[in-house]
Amino acid sequence: MPKRKILVTSALPYANGEIHLGHLLEYIQTDIWVRFMRMMGHECHYVCADDAHGTPIMLKADELGITPEVLIDDVHKRHLADFKDFSIDFSQYHSTHSKENKAISTDIYNQLNTAGFIKSHIVSQAFDPIKQIFLPDRFIKGDCPKCGATDQYGDNCEVCGATYSPTEIKNAKSTLSDVAPISKDSQHYFFDLPQFETRLKAWTNAGHLQTEVKNKLTEWFEQGLKQWDISRDAPYFGFQIPNVERKYFYVWLDAPIGYMASFKKLCSDQNLDFDEYFNLDSQTELYHFIGKDIVYFHALFWPAILMGANYRTPNAIFAHGFLTINGQKMSKSRGTFIPARTYLENLNPEYLRYYYAYKLNAKIDDIDLNLEDFKQRVNSDLVGKVVNIASRSAGFIVKRFDKTLSAHLVGGRLYHKFVNKGDEIATFYEARNYNLAMREIMKLADSANQYIDQQKPWQMIKEANKAAQVHDVASLAINLFRVLITYLKPILPTMAQQAQMFLNVDTLSWDEIKHPLTKHQINRFKPLMERIEEGQIENMLNASKQNQR
Ligand code: MSP
Ligand code: ZN
Repeated sequence: MPKRKILVTSALPYANGEIHLGHLLEYIQTDIWVRFMRMMGHECHYVCADDAHGTPIMLKADELGITPEVLIDDVHKRHLADFKDFSIDFSQYHSTHSKENKAISTDIYNQLNTAGFIKSHIVSQAFDPIKQIFLPDRFIKGDCPKCGATDQYGDNCEVCGATYSPTEIKNAKSTLSDVAPISKDSQHYFFDLPQFETRLKAWTNAGHLQTEVKNKLTEWFEQGLKQWDISRDAPYFGFQIPNVERKYFYVWLDAPIGYMASFKKLCSDQNLDFDEYFNLDSQTELYHFIGKDIVYFHALFWPAILMGANYRTPNAIFAHGFLTINGQKMSKSRGTFIPARTYLENLNPEYLRYYYAYKLNAKIDDIDLNLEDFKQRVNSDLVGKVVNIASRSAGFIVKRFDKTLSAHLVGGRLYHKFVNKGDEIATFYEARNYNLAMREIMKLADSANQYIDQQKPWQMIKEANKAAQVHDVASLAINLFRVLITYLKPILPTMAQQAQMFLNVDTLSWDEIKHPLTKHQINRFKPLMERIEEGQIENMLNASKQNQR
């Protein structure tokens, strides 16, 4: 198969908060896909960045008495450390507050403007007369206009579920100054989305989207597309709109452009050709992994912006559902709003990578992290099944046979059954049906363990003239383990690395397992993964409760 050139992105996390287990569902899902595609020999670049602009970040810096630049630098370091420790293998992790992003955003805006896709109107919005800033909906609180519940946000009521505009809310107050907002006029700039209706409809029906997402878009088309407000007034932390005083790009305009900017940085660092990936006639592939909450931005605005500025559009948007923990939304009071760092202080990151893979499919249904199931799965699948194959066989090879595997492979049928599953497992990976891939891999692990159970090498070794047979059985088991850890490598990069040292091989690949290891020296076996013990999970929950206070 010819080598494909692929650019992959995950959504850019906001630069005002910690990475938590919900975010990680996405970064792990993407990372597994990228690692798999790389294992298939494709050129696969994975870029991301911090989403550094916007009012909340500006206000948070204010509150901390630091500049937004200092805040986003600090968060950038912490995000990078979290991603590294979860083995998220970005080619480039940039920031939307970068010179590359400023240049591309400005350029795209200018192109859209020249082509007649930018309109401007006067808009009247809530304004905090003390703080002297326009207020995003979440900075307004008041009484629900429908049910009267007090202390509700400016756009929706948590008590009765009503949604409304912040002008409708009663006794409105700015959460920043506690005074009533006034209504103030300002000139705003809009991206004229309705001009793209025909092209967007065609794009939506051309196989770039999951069915559920496509259906959502059809609903939005039926409701009618509206112009999109892409400007914000000073003071704002972002990029200034060219040739306009005191106006900035709304954070959601330059955020997806941040994908391009991050890739641009990678191109200059690694001498890649940016245009080859973004020109209209590009032969490369572009995929965006996102959560279902930001489909509107990625499946409507983003392709339209790219069309308007004469860039290629994505091959696909891969949306996933939301993470729930023990069947409920993540919650600070239950301690299930678990920061990546708190998890890492208590548990091995590869447990979570495996559990997410075991649950993930290509749909947008929510994914539940049931902590009891998590513990049982990891202990029984990874430790009890996969690692066990190596740990119960390695000793014979090391102690009795000079660390060397048999010269010939016995049990060729079983071995080939393992290798022959490779294509199906690869298909599941590429289609993001990781759950199906894990199921097949664990079925194979079961059959390897059954084989060892039937052969009983621990008994044979005590009998006369059975040494050669033990050698063969253990050698086959080690070879079966090699196939399994190859299939699991996109999920468990660290364990695969250690397994490579144990197996004494330079690489693990779908191609190489076609040839079993014979007359090959392995290394002493060290436990590849520990069981999750009673208390580890509880400690993590307690620690994350503490953190929230
Ligand atoms: N900054 C925007 C994305 C801009 S992309 C041009 C944003 N940031 S976020 O930090 O709120 O979320 C980043 C990604 O993590 C999003 O795809 C979001 O859907 C995902 N998740 C955040 N919380 C999540 C869960 N609880 N569960 C699953 N995914 C979650 O949105
Ligand atoms: Zn209400």
